[in-house]
Amino acid sequence: MIGRLIIVALLSSAASAAFAAEGDATAGKVVFARTCQNCHAVEIGVNKVGPSLWNVVGRAPASVPDFAYSDAMKANKDVWTATALDAYLADPRGDVHGVKMFFKGLPEPRDRADVITYLQTLR
Ligand code: HEC
Repeated sequence: MIGRLIIVALLSSAASAAFAAEGDATAGKVVFARTCQNCHAVEIGVNKVGPSLWNVVGRAPASVPDFAYSDAMKANKDVWTATALDAYLADPRGDVHGVKMFFKGLPEPRDRADVITYLQTLR
């Protein structure tokens, strides 16, 4: 019984760690290659269907100068913190500023934590 309680406690702390985006950058790079790379480059100034994601963590939304963002993204004032990225990537089209990104999102919290950790290395 006590053993079971300890396991529950460990699982819930793992879940909150994932939410804080303490993921695995190597796994995140794989997720990125599989799900983001068709539309996003990680090099400075390289825009594809989506804007370059170089140094995206901590930057203001819609701030890549030569990318044509949607009006919704231009109106979004929430800096791309790990928490904001987590909400956006969970449901890009449901999220208010996601209208132009035709991508269904990453339903797995683990995948989001990993990809956000990988994005944090791009600086
Ligand atoms: C089908 C193409 C497509 C895919 C796949 C895609 N994106 Fe996007 N992404 C876009 C577009 C287009 C925009 C611009 C959205 C707008 O202006 O509303 C965007 C915007 C973003 C932004 C905001 C950038 C900024 O400068 O404000 C982030 C962050 C982002 N995407 C991350 C990701 C991540 C991480 C993945 C993979 C998990 C991903 N995207 C997958 C097309 C895509």
